[in-house]
Amino acid sequence: MSLPIAVLISGDGSNLQVLINKMEERILDVDIKMVLSNRENAYGLKRAQAYGIPTCTLSHKDFSSREEFDGEMVRVLKESGVEAVVMAGFMRIITPVFLSAFPGKIINIHPALLPAFPGVDGQGDASKYGVRLAGCTVHFVDEKMDHGAIIIQSAVPASPGEDPEDLRLRILEQEHRILPQATQWLAEGRLRIDGRFVKLEEDDVELAETDGTGLVNPPLEYGF
Ligand code: GAR
Repeated sequence: MSLPIAVLISGDGSNLQVLINKMEERILDVDIKMVLSNRENAYGLKRAQAYGIPTCTLSHKDFSSREEFDGEMVRVLKESGVEAVVMAGFMRIITPVFLSAFPGKIINIHPALLPAFPGVDGQGDASKYGVRLAGCTVHFVDEKMDHGAIIIQSAVPASPGEDPEDLRLRILEQEHRILPQATQWLAEGRLRIDGRFVKLEEDDVELAETDGTGLVNPPLEYGF
């Protein structure tokens, strides 16, 4: 049976789009029960609606505390039968109210090689710092921002003085590779969290792989 998931967004939803595409191609074994946004003008809502996927907007401004907002998200998602959550550009910190509703079942994509450059502008911060390798990370979510155990990362080269937008797009291309893969591993029940470590079952040898655009570890599997 496909894993019933929710995708949380705040904006364009390009990561949501690749999840939908892989689901439609039957490579990604999930059923997106709900796309939830905290911004009503998030373009990702339109992407979901184009495929008949239920959507919901909850503005955090309508709630007096983070806990109340999270409580309402939990209520909506549970009512839709959601069992796991993919945060794909969701620009909110979640509280234990949300975490405890989906223990070990919430993942997030971040546009930096964590633990470097957490926060709202990972790519921009990396650009300004002058790194020569940038990238993205999918990790389990815990109570601290951009902190939980790492599932998969992809690294891309960065050049001094290059247009930050070019770097952002190069990282985004890698996000679109590693987020569906991590989501599939979650759906397959192959991810085991052991403290800071995430072990991928049936994967004894973890060797990074590159297709010339990004260096991905653990390597992507068939279809991703
Ligand atoms: C992505 O780059 C994602 O990594 C980032 O927001 C963007 C959303 O793009 N998330 C964060 O910065 C979380 N800290 P999208 O809406 O096109 O998927």
